[in-house]
Amino acid sequence: MTAINPVTDLSMDGDIAVITLNSPPVNALSANVREGLFEGFKAATADPAVKAIVLICEGRTFIAGADITEFGGASRGPSLFDVQGMMENAPKPVIAAIHGTALGGGLEVALVAHYRIAVPSARLGLPEVNLGLLPGAGGTQRLPRVAGPEKALEMMTSGRHAPASEALAMGLVDELAEEGKLREAAVAFARRCVTENRPLVKVRDNNTKVEAARGKPEIFEAFRKANARKFRGFLAPEYNIRCIEAAVNLPFDEGLAVERKLFGELVTGSQSAAQRYSFFAERQAQKVPDVPDDTPLIPVKSVGIIGAGTMGGGIAMNFANVGIAVTLIEVQKEALERGLKVIRSNYERTASRGGITAAQVEERMALITGSLDMNALATVDLVIEAVFERMDVKKEIFTKLDAICKPGAILATNTSGLNIDEIASVTKRPEAVIGLHFFSPANVMKLLEIVRADHTSKSVIATSMKLAKQIGKIAALVGVCPGFVGNRILGQRQREAQKLVMEGAMPWDVDRVLYDFGFPMGPFAMSDLAGLDIGWVKERSQGESIRDVLCEMDRRGQKTGAGYYDYDENRNAKPSPVTEKIINDFIVKTGSNPRTVSDEEILERCIYPMINEGVKILEEGKAIRSSDVDVVWQNGYGWPVYRGGPMWYGDQIGAAKVLEKMKEFQAKMGDDFKPAPLLEKLVAEGKKFSDL
Ligand code: 3HC
Repeated sequence: MTAINPVTDLSMDGDIAVITLNSPPVNALSANVREGLFEGFKAATADPAVKAIVLICEGRTFIAGADITEFGGASRGPSLFDVQGMMENAPKPVIAAIHGTALGGGLEVALVAHYRIAVPSARLGLPEVNLGLLPGAGGTQRLPRVAGPEKALEMMTSGRHAPASEALAMGLVDELAEEGKLREAAVAFARRCVTENRPLVKVRDNNTKVEAARGKPEIFEAFRKANARKFRGFLAPEYNIRCIEAAVNLPFDEGLAVERKLFGELVTGSQSAAQRYSFFAERQAQKVPDVPDDTPLIPVKSVGIIGAGTMGGGIAMNFANVGIAVTLIEVQKEALERGLKVIRSNYERTASRGGITAAQVEERMALITGSLDMNALATVDLVIEAVFERMDVKKEIFTKLDAICKPGAILATNTSGLNIDEIASVTKRPEAVIGLHFFSPANVMKLLEIVRADHTSKSVIATSMKLAKQIGKIAALVGVCPGFVGNRILGQRQREAQKLVMEGAMPWDVDRVLYDFGFPMGPFAMSDLAGLDIGWVKERSQGESIRDVLCEMDRRGQKTGAGYYDYDENRNAKPSPVTEKIINDFIVKTGSNPRTVSDEEILERCIYPMINEGVKILEEGKAIRSSDVDVVWQNGYGWPVYRGGPMWYGDQIGAAKVLEKMKEFQAKMGDDFKPAPLLEKLVAEGKKFSDL
């Protein structure tokens, strides 16, 4: 074996050269890896004893893409294009042997091999779109040539990782190897290429599939139309589509030039910067400074959930999806049966769309056992309480859990803002108590706010973080304070939205500004969707707020056909003259004068207090780092990914400007806008939010 460089080896298996990359964690195409590939292929190509070349990787995966940390820096060593040229033009067969994931630049490297072989567990994709990018090393021109433009559109704009079986079916992979025997299989394949004198297939020359789509612009128009809502606000999906159009309509090298130009625009733009930041923010959020990687974990093989409502049922599905047994507790038999029925129908809906098989529905349902007796939780490893938000009820439940659950079990609450220290105080094991705040619908929403109370043990924290990843959630660790990180910041926006309406803006004005900013919907549309009567008590309602009046009129949101908006039979919203009159009457009643509120003011008043609250949260140590605040807001509250999150966005505006505006609003409208002391300090020291 010859070491080409610290991350690349070249060895011989008879007359087959094997180039092995080993650059943990994911063999990303750093300068070192590119150099190793370039020099390795150069040496193997020049050696007459070598008849074919296999590229394989050590560790958990094949090349998972370009090294994202290198973007924006000076380029060093051979470029990816140099490497690809060396491989594609090699005068002997080149075989890429794939395990783990071949993603982005990694798949683009595999696509210049003459053949690809993969183990069944491998997955392949071009996920650049999720970083606000497009494949910049020929992937936009080669994938459509292999898989056809329709498939390429779907894969490149979703960033989906296709399983090896699918890759085989679409011709992206030539053969599957037995799991664990990739190297032997790849060498044998290479030997067959030599003995059978197989052609050196260059994907770039294969025009059949792209030519078939030439002169059919409707393919692209239909795709754009079908996905308009999903792509709204994002640049990258449209740029990916344009590259595939170029693949269809232009010769390879001209298509490549389009790719280069559009890649250059995206990689230097603000959206990709925000999306790359988010990629690392999510991973950073998993790291807790005082909870080391080797903290002992508590094995979680069974989970108990108290409450079979929408929340409890959704939480249960997360665990059943990954094969963890769930005991679902309810007080009333009917409620339990209803809860189980909802879970089943959710699974059946997924199955009807092809997401899972009918057998999987049954497997998952079989993992969920209903019970009316809390004693059924005696043996579970983790309990999640998901009943309604009343401290007395939660305390009663935790007192019982303390008596019932086995020593070492984790006792979690799904509260969205109550004091978890107070809940923990009724137990004799506060170290076992933690907040696991799921977002509704819990089987869909990505965020898990993990709330660390005063006495929560490190093992309980480490286990919760690990479990979050296992069930496909993005976790952020936060501290106990009213509303935690997410709802506490939301409170700022909701308050200003309500105030703006009392000053003369209409709900649909506020909603439009926030929708245009990139949120999936504004606060009033959101209230209509959730139901205006959440927390509203008819007997106590005295028409003291706009919401009270709306509920009293039975305008309780979408479910009653009217709320802030009027809805037609398809639930399309229209501004409501009724709501407008209620608002105007209210304004008159309070003796204030309605005024014209600009869109700019709406945006600044909704967003800047959120940023300020984020700073306060950091000041109080309730979030570990500013990017954790962004992770919460992106994944739990629909903050547009291409704007990074409130703290990232704050840095784009500049802390000084945020402070100046907060002070201006404070002078006019009072202490709702009082700047956090840390914001003042930050500006005085010329620092950024990301420094927090
Ligand atoms: N560049 C640099 N670092 C990367 C990386 C990349 N492409 N991909 C992953 N990493 C790092 C992560 O930051 C993390 O670092 P940390 O341990 O210090 O936090 C570590 O590798 C492990 O990553 P994960 O925690 O995500 O590990 P998983 O096993 O859960 O997932 C993965 C592995 C599926 C490969 C996932 O990391 C992933 O999706 N990576 C990004 C893939 C991607 O987007 N590739 C395209 C890059 S852009 C490109 O190629 C442009 C080209 O067209 C020119």
